[in-house]
Amino acid sequence: MCPLLNTNLHFASRDTLEPCCSANIGPSLVSNLSKKESIKEFINRKKKIINLLKKGRIPKNCQNCVHLTDYKPTDNFKIDKITLNHYTQCNCACIYCTQGNRSLEKIKEDENKPVLYDVLKFINELYDNDLIDKEKLYIDFQGGNISCLRNHEEIINTFLKRGVGTIYIPTNNIIYMPVIEKLLKLKKGEMCTALDSGTKETYFKIKQVDKFDKSVENIRRYIESAGNDSIIIKYILVEGFNDNIDEFGKFINLMIELNVKIIVLDIDYRDIIDKAYTIPKHYYEIVKYAKEVCKKNSIILGIPPYTTKVLEKGYSVK
Ligand SMILES: C[S@@+](CC[C@H](N)C(=O)[O-])C[C@H]1O[C@@H](n2cnc3c(N)ncnc32)[C@H](O)[C@@H]1O
Ligand code: SF4
Ligand code: SF4
Repeated sequence: MCPLLNTNLHFASRDTLEPCCSANIGPSLVSNLSKKESIKEFINRKKKIINLLKKGRIPKNCQNCVHLTDYKPTDNFKIDKITLNHYTQCNCACIYCTQGNRSLEKIKEDENKPVLYDVLKFINELYDNDLIDKEKLYIDFQGGNISCLRNHEEIINTFLKRGVGTIYIPTNNIIYMPVIEKLLKLKKGEMCTALDSGTKETYFKIKQVDKFDKSVENIRRYIESAGNDSIIIKYILVEGFNDNIDEFGKFINLMIELNVKIIVLDIDYRDIIDKAYTIPKHYYEIVKYAKEVCKKNSIILGIPPYTTKVLEKGYSVK
């Protein structure tokens, strides 16, 4: 079985509804979403996949997925996690971006493109049909950058009105958003920013926009107004750019100054997905240093489970 298949939904940028947002794509539950009025057909499709799994037949897109487990009887099928990935617009161009936002030209081109489909219509349908676990529901705004999604406030307010646990907002944080401050104050939100650097110069090389100071100022503002409990700052190791202890040390000093409590260290997904290569040896030294310096300064260091697995093996699991 796959617990994600049972209770997650992913509004994907492939114009599909998928069961999960994992390193594997997962089977599509509904395709051509932009042409659909309803997504209720996902229930039947899901039942079919669950039955296949029970018989030990694994759909092609699930093969080798780390989330597959032995079957455990369950009657828990209400949706408790929704990933929103129906928009790709952004206002910076991280060289590693999995959304393909890797050049400033692409960003300009995308700026006025409409979103792929109306996600609100489908979200309301899920609530109307009692398919949501309103207490537990975790929303993950992936996509491009939320500040470029025109109706983000309407989407967030719909969740708040109809019932939600936590709304997770990863953002480059170039633009200060009062709705994030509101969510943090309500204890309904988590904000995560991949700063990936401790200096303006490195930031510029990775993000291709000169917005280091702005992003730092915004982190400071959120912490001052809503505290540091639910603010996560990320450092993605990008080979040849920020993969050295000197840069990471400057990043940590900045985190201490800003009173950031939680940081996440990750590796560039391209290392796993595109290259499937051996993790560079010096990454292990940076991870060791990160663990020591965070412990010393009472900062919580998170390393995502998938990344931990890859680091343990020293090669891609794909
Ligand atoms: C595509 S972004 C969208 C949200 C927002 N624009 C942001 O960057 O935080 C979603 C998440 O994926 C991460 N991400 C994107 N490309 C990645 C890569 N190649 N390796 C590791 N993380 C990546 C980003 O840091 C972010 O946390
Ligand atoms: S097994 Fe993996 S790919 Fe398949 S639905 Fe579950 S999480 Fe997604
Ligand atoms: S901020 Fe997010 S969406 Fe924008 S380019 Fe960077 S990773 Fe991609």
